[in-house]
Amino acid sequence: MNKKTVKDIDLQNKKVFVRCDFNVPLDENGKITDNRRIVGALDTIKYLLDQNCKVILCSHLGRPKGEVKPEFSLAPVAAELSKLLGKEVKLAKDIIGESAKELTSNMKNGEIVLLENVRFDAREEKNDPEFAKELASMAEVFVNDAFGTAHRAHGSTAGVADYLPAVSGFLIEKELKFLGSALENPERPFVAILGGKKVSDKIGVINSLLEKVDTLMIGGAMAFTFYKAQGYNVGDSICELDKLDLANELMEKAKQKGVKFLLPVDTKLGKEFKPDTESKTVNYKEIPDGWMGLDIGAETIKEYKEVLQSAKTIMWNGPLGLSEFEQFADGTNEIAKTLSELTNAITIIGGGDSAAAVEKAGLADKMTHISTGGGASLEFLEGKKLPGIECLQDK
Ligand code: 3PG
Repeated sequence: MNKKTVKDIDLQNKKVFVRCDFNVPLDENGKITDNRRIVGALDTIKYLLDQNCKVILCSHLGRPKGEVKPEFSLAPVAAELSKLLGKEVKLAKDIIGESAKELTSNMKNGEIVLLENVRFDAREEKNDPEFAKELASMAEVFVNDAFGTAHRAHGSTAGVADYLPAVSGFLIEKELKFLGSALENPERPFVAILGGKKVSDKIGVINSLLEKVDTLMIGGAMAFTFYKAQGYNVGDSICELDKLDLANELMEKAKQKGVKFLLPVDTKLGKEFKPDTESKTVNYKEIPDGWMGLDIGAETIKEYKEVLQSAKTIMWNGPLGLSEFEQFADGTNEIAKTLSELTNAITIIGGGDSAAAVEKAGLADKMTHISTGGGASLEFLEGKKLPGIECLQDK
């Protein structure tokens, strides 16, 4: 990475403003159901404590749209951080108001203050310069470690860099190392597995990956748009009728680039969109009306597994079926299991649902890298510049 990290500047005794992505899922009782993003920030926070820094943490949680909404408070995050660090993390009641000022103005070395949800102020998402200046005025250095939010040009992710020396934390460094080296200099064969509902969500990624990979495997509902584009019936499956030309163009591009473009050969259908619905598996050319494809079939799993055995770099983004429903989770689970058993391949899991599936299956520590970014990793894979990274000092 050509951007400075916390290791490249003197941080001894400094007051540091750290943007993290603590946008974690909460259950109906406000309990954190997946703390990976909090755990991901610990290395940087601990390093700053070792440097005797005063640490001011900042994050968003959810999309409160510029209003103070108690259900989006960072209180559960402060509690989880305190537990993980074995050290008190004080939560300010606001972002740049009286509480934040009181807690951050007389900090001692080694103290940690977490500001309240930065999206409680509408100026955050507008990247308002005055707001960013206020945030910056609390500290002497800006450390961005919010990889998951690096694709947003907001006050706390990019704006503050106009007023403070800005460097990355270890999480951003690690994400760029794995995602970046896979794209720039992959060990081959390089296989990408793309799932998810819509082709339209992944156009940029497919286009970009077709320039780099040897094989592209498609799963999830987006496969039906590709089937339909070839003239097959897809029954009641999710299908983007306005993207059929695009689907054909992408398949044509794959052919021209010499990329193997693999679509499922069979699919597990459900009668209704319900967990216990009647189901059956058919060849992709034989999807009847009145049924919808909800997972890849056993033949496809077998075929995909075989291809993966010889891959040296694998990048996976998006579930291969409706994995929330157990009977349609086989595709996603089997591919996760296969990846976990490969000892000679670099396995990189894009964030969001595929990362959650790997975590749920207890296979997270068997993967080379699991990204903490959903939208951010997709935009990175598309080759876009991420404002939260662009704003950092060059080495
Ligand atoms: C994410 O969960 O992808 C990030 O935290 C960004 O959240 P956002 O899509 O609400 O900006």
